[in-house]
Amino acid sequence: MTWNRRHLLDLQSLTAEEITLILDVAREFRAVGERDVKKVGVLQGRTVVNLFVEPSTRTRISFELAALRLSADVINFTAEASSLKKGETLKDTVRNLESMSADFVILRHGASGAPHFLSRFARCHIINAGDGAHEHPTQGLLDVFTIRERKGRIAGLKVTILGDILYSRVARSNIWALLKLGAEVTLCGPPTLVPRVFEQWGCRVTWNVHEAVRGADVVNLLRIQHERQRKTMFPSTGEYAALFGLNQARASLLHPEALIMHPGPINRGVEIESELADGERSVILEQVANGLAVRMAVLHLINGGQPGQIC
Ligand code: NCD
Repeated sequence: MTWNRRHLLDLQSLTAEEITLILDVAREFRAVGERDVKKVGVLQGRTVVNLFVEPSTRTRISFELAALRLSADVINFTAEASSLKKGETLKDTVRNLESMSADFVILRHGASGAPHFLSRFARCHIINAGDGAHEHPTQGLLDVFTIRERKGRIAGLKVTILGDILYSRVARSNIWALLKLGAEVTLCGPPTLVPRVFEQWGCRVTWNVHEAVRGADVVNLLRIQHERQRKTMFPSTGEYAALFGLNQARASLLHPEALIMHPGPINRGVEIESELADGERSVILEQVANGLAVRMAVLHLINGGQPGQIC
């Protein structure tokens, strides 16, 4: 299996083999991260631009560190302080970056489809770091990587995604990756945020939280995406926490060795109780650590690198 894509725009269009290849290469990079010298030269001479038009902590720092560890030159572009504020189009911004020899543009944007749009004309490689409510492919990859490393497989696992599914790009990327790799995916949350249409993708939809968590091998909790909700989707965060938040009683219904996941940022006491977020079954910080290895793998493969070529 070799990689021959120029961009990483979504997980919907990837095959199970391509996803597995990224996970295998990420494992090689995780081993690099455990060495004394954590840097390799595979992106030497390349320029990576982090073009983040929406707020981010983890994803931006993770891409920056991944590119630095691969020896690339890295530019961080903050939309607030740029000509995007003066009316320049995204297309013109990217054309200018290309004139300065940007090889990779890592794009986070509020509009679903923005990275796909850029990929239609861009000469550089485009990596989607989250587009609206559409997809967040590297988050989906790091989540399945974390599950596979802990459980040894994805196929046949019962994975529950609990929270704001409707507005979540993390949910969509997770769903595609999990289904392609053979997991059984259950979605749960308030009916206004978990539409039945997801059944057509091959997911189980339930609005009963006990049913959703009972016997699950993995529960992935999602933040309420207030910034994307244009109307009131549920009465209050207090009521959400009471009806759908993961607490000790609900967590006791999970498989005894279940993993508790969250892409961050966490709203403690809303989607998850603090003790559970910091507890033994939580892999939340492991997800962050794995994100670095996964992003190194994605940059390496898109640059034309192959597995086993890391030194
Ligand atoms: C997510 C995002 O921005 O899509 N965070 C992340 O990248 N780790 C999820 C969220 O904001 O809730």
